[in-house]
Amino acid sequence: MNNILITGGAGFIGRNFIELLSSNYGKIYIIDNFSLGLREAFSSDKIKVIEFDLKNEFKMFDEIDCEEVHEIWHFAANSDIPSGIKNINVDFENTFITTLNTIKIANKYKVKKFNFASSSAVYGDWDIALKESLGPLKPISNYGSMKLASEAALCSFGFKEEVDINIFRFPNVVGVPATHGVILDFFKKIKLNGFLDVLGNGTQKKSYLHVKELISAMNFVNSKSNENINIINIGNNDDGITVKEIAELVVKKYDNEIKINYGENDYGWIGDVPKFKFNTDKLNNLGWRPELSSHDSVELAIDEIFNRLNL
Ligand SMILES: NC(=O)c1ccc[n+]([C@@H]2O[C@H](COP(=O)([O-])OP(=O)(O)OC[C@H]3O[C@@H](n4cnc5c(N)ncnc54)[C@H](O)[C@@H]3O)[C@@H](O)[C@H]2O)c1
Repeated sequence: MNNILITGGAGFIGRNFIELLSSNYGKIYIIDNFSLGLREAFSSDKIKVIEFDLKNEFKMFDEIDCEEVHEIWHFAANSDIPSGIKNINVDFENTFITTLNTIKIANKYKVKKFNFASSSAVYGDWDIALKESLGPLKPISNYGSMKLASEAALCSFGFKEEVDINIFRFPNVVGVPATHGVILDFFKKIKLNGFLDVLGNGTQKKSYLHVKELISAMNFVNSKSNENINIINIGNNDDGITVKEIAELVVKKYDNEIKINYGENDYGWIGDVPKFKFNTDKLNNLGWRPELSSHDSVELAIDEIFNRLNL
């Protein structure tokens, strides 16, 4: 069985990946600095957690000392997009430098497969369905630009070292244990204030995928793809769900009436792509389709997050 190294493995998607796919692998190394990840123990003794900040190269290989690594899943990044808007260093360090350092780790262990969690944010703001061949790409957030820079670094690395690279472009991913995102944000605001202040006027409309389906799709693509550099949208091709609909579904969970206040802009924050829809022909033609629509994914995640928060 292949040994794998997962960066950001203590986070939302990393933990779901481990829960669903760890039986496919031998030893599992997790690197996380726990800046956003959850400090909950992992149950299996084949998992080794290395607490390390991947933006620091200094002494990296003193701290990261694995036996053999065959495959990398690189999830570590800044997932708090607004924090990267306030400070340009946040995404440069936690999204781009972490990728360069993970490439150095891949080089050291001579891995032959590298999987990367990219994002719809690399595309920028378009009024047509986002297809992998679209370009020139014009991200509108530091997060999106550092994901795109990471993709570029991985392309040249994969070509030069003959490492197969999967670049998965995710939509908004929902489920538990959420560490960030619109649903968690809404529940936290209601708990704090008793009402819900929505960023933007609620017309923002995006594509969502449940985390369990995301993991299933990545696993499927990883087993099927035979491209050296495989860039692929993972998600739904429906029209998405609006922020207003999400807000209304969230407040329905409460017995008492929760007032919703909307902002004025048609975006949530500067750098927020207000509307996007994925073209998923490449994924569908490979043979994978989601079972849940964007709406159903969000509805399920609202239940899961509500129950987990014990509200
Ligand atoms: N959740 C989504 O909707 C979504 C959408 C598009 C792309 N992605 C990408 O998927 C990946 C996983 O996202 P997530 O939702 O699980 O976020 P998350 O914040 O829960 O997980 C990211 C993990 O990376 C760790 N990390 C951050 N900076 C680090 C550093 N410098 N060194 C070591 N570890 C570091 C965090 O502690 C965290 O555990 C990220 O790359 C994210 O950009 C997520």
